[in-house]
Amino acid sequence: MLQDIDHVLISEERLHARIAELGEQLAADYAGKTPIFIGVLKGVVMFFTDMVRATPIRCEYDFLAVSSYGSGTTSSGTVRMLKDVSSDITGRHIVILEDILDSGLTLHFVRNYLLSKNPASLKICTLLDKPERRRVDVFADYVGFSIPNEFVVGYGLDYKEEYRNLPFIGVLKPEIYN
Ligand code: IMP
Ligand code: MG
Repeated sequence: MLQDIDHVLISEERLHARIAELGEQLAADYAGKTPIFIGVLKGVVMFFTDMVRATPIRCEYDFLAVSSYGSGTTSSGTVRMLKDVSSDITGRHIVILEDILDSGLTLHFVRNYLLSKNPASLKICTLLDKPERRRVDVFADYVGFSIPNEFVVGYGLDYKEEYRNLPFIGVLKPEIYN
C-alpha cells in the first residue's frame, strides 16, 4: 500500500494539531448549544472521531451516507442518499462534518436536505477543501486545510475503497489511477 503513495501531503502531526485548533473553535462557538455533529460516511470516519474528541462540549452525533462518486477520481454528478440520519434535527444546531469539499455536489445536496428539516442552524466543517474544483456554490464555515487540485487518499479518504487506513493524507501516484 505505501508504495502507491507519491508523497505525504499532510502528516499525522499536522492533522492532529489542526484538529485541536478546530475543536477549540467549535467548543467556543457551540458551548451551551448541544449541537448535533452529523458525519457524511464513509470518508469522514477518522476525522469525525478525532474531531468530536477534540471538542469538549455537550453534543450528540449522527451519520448519513451518500454516494456521488463511481469508483473513479471525479464526481458522477448525481448524489444518492444511502443512509439517512436517525435523529430529529428540527430546531437543533447542526454541524455537518465532511472529509473533503471538492466539486461541492455532495455538500450542496446534504446541506439542502438537512435544511429542509428546519434545524435552528446549520454549519459545515470540512477537513480538506479543494477550492479550484468547485462546480456549485457551497462554502464551509470551518476548514482544516485548503489543498491543491490533486487526488488524495488516507485518513478516511479512499481510491476504490482502499487506502482509508493510512494515518496521513497522501497523494496517490498517478499511475495507480491512470
Ligand atoms: P464533491 O461532491 O465533488 O464535493 O466530493 C465530495 C466527495 O468526493 C468526498 O466526500 C470524497 O468521498 C470524494 N473525493 C473528492 N475528492 C477526493 C480526493 O481527492 N480523494 C478521495 N476522495 C475524494
Ligand atoms: Mg470516496
